[in-house]
Amino acid sequence: MIGVVDSGSGGLSVLKEITRLLPGEKYIYYSDNAYCPYGEKSQDFIMERMRTVSEYLMGEGADIIVVACNTATSAAIAGLRGLYADPSSEECRERVLKATGGRRDHVKFIGMEPAVKPAALGTKTGIIGVLATVGTLKGSKYLTSKGNVEDNVTVVEHVGRGFVELVEAGRLDGPEVETTVEKSLRPLLDAGSDIIVLGCTHYPFLLSVMERVAGPGVRFIDPAPAVARHLVDVMVQEGLISGAETDPALQQKKPDARLVASGEDSTLKNLFNMIYVRG
Ligand code: DGL
Repeated sequence: MIGVVDSGSGGLSVLKEITRLLPGEKYIYYSDNAYCPYGEKSQDFIMERMRTVSEYLMGEGADIIVVACNTATSAAIAGLRGLYADPSSEECRERVLKATGGRRDHVKFIGMEPAVKPAALGTKTGIIGVLATVGTLKGSKYLTSKGNVEDNVTVVEHVGRGFVELVEAGRLDGPEVETTVEKSLRPLLDAGSDIIVLGCTHYPFLLSVMERVAGPGVRFIDPAPAVARHLVDVMVQEGLISGAETDPALQQKKPDARLVASGEDSTLKNLFNMIYVRG
């Protein structure tokens, strides 16, 4: 079983890409929406939440966990890997054996990657935009990928202010959404960005509004398909792929996913139904 976690419903945009590749797998999705947004919370707070949720997911049957949240990846992925992913550490083995009821001695974690590199390779104006939360933009993972960009490419960034809250309220279009999107996108557009990286898993839910605001000539990059491909590679290495996953008949169906929320779950259920009806 694959565990997927986000601060809210945003990680469904990643689940959707994963289930395209692995439609026959079983999933458990955890929305930590009682504590959402994570964007401006401390690293220690997010680490503590991710620890609690990860152990819960392991106890419910997760054999591998996707942190479908850029902010939580930034704050906690290294810590989570240290605690649960290293079978050569006795403490790690004990911890995971306990959390999984003896089923596994380690659990791998897949995180989000800021797609700065593909954006930098694809830009024609030499200017790329990054939209993300405060936590992601301050995080070492993002700062490292930004530091690796060639000198002839300029990276401009902006927080998607209010985007997470809109998605959590199930508001994906309309005048209020357009105004909110315009405010955060405009500085990136005015700077001349022709490619904009979606550095938060909630943002793809606002993509049609962003495309309308940006107009033609601006492309948005979502790292989720690359993360899904990486998950498949790790599952193969871990011997977790069962073989039924790629059956094309399964691709037409809703995945076998259990949805869990620490808070109210109506948006989670609605967005889940929406993404699998729309395809
Ligand atoms: N989906 C989370 C991310 O990718 C949203 C962060 C938040 O809760 O503020 O960063």
